Amino acid sequence: MTPEDIERVQATWKKVLPIRNTAAELFYGKLFEMDPQLRDLFPADLADQKRKLMMMLNTAVSGLSNVDALVPAVQELGRRHVGYGVRDEHYATVGAALLWTLEQGLGEAFTDEVKASWGKVYGVLSSVMQQAAAESAAA
Ligand code: HEM
Repeated sequence: MTPEDIERVQATWKKVLPIRNTAAELFYGKLFEMDPQLRDLFPADLADQKRKLMMMLNTAVSGLSNVDALVPAVQELGRRHVGYGVRDEHYATVGAALLWTLEQGLGEAFTDEVKASWGKVYGVLSSVMQQAAAESAAA
């Protein structure tokens, strides 16, 4: 994750924020289309979940410039996800749904570079989550 990646992700996230409700709708729609079984992991009412996901992404994106400070919260998040029934293979599906959502929201601003930078950032966040989940399972 280079400073350019962080800049690209933060700049494009700013454009998604004003349309975050729509983005959350699109994201969950796509996610459950890609893997309908994932729907059962979430509560019937997704309203709260949509808000939480966007808040967490917002915190993560703003915190990228200081990753060391962000890591403990992301590790905690990963450990909580074990209790939600989330497994390693789900992270790829969620990543794909997220990139697709960004593409819808950003249109032409979703360049190959932007896509690659978001892919890296999601990769870092999800590997920190997965690693912490694996360690808590082994403990
Ligand atoms: C970078 C990746 C992810 C982020 C930032 C994220 C963020 C969040 C946040 C903020 C919450 C609210 C509860 C809490 O803070 O513990 C949550 C809950 C949840 N997430 Fe994630 N998540 C990610 C990956 C995933 C993946 C891969 C799945 C797999 C389907 C998933 C499924 C869930 C479920 C089922 C809940 C609990 C819903 C509930 O019972 O209220 N998340 N997530």
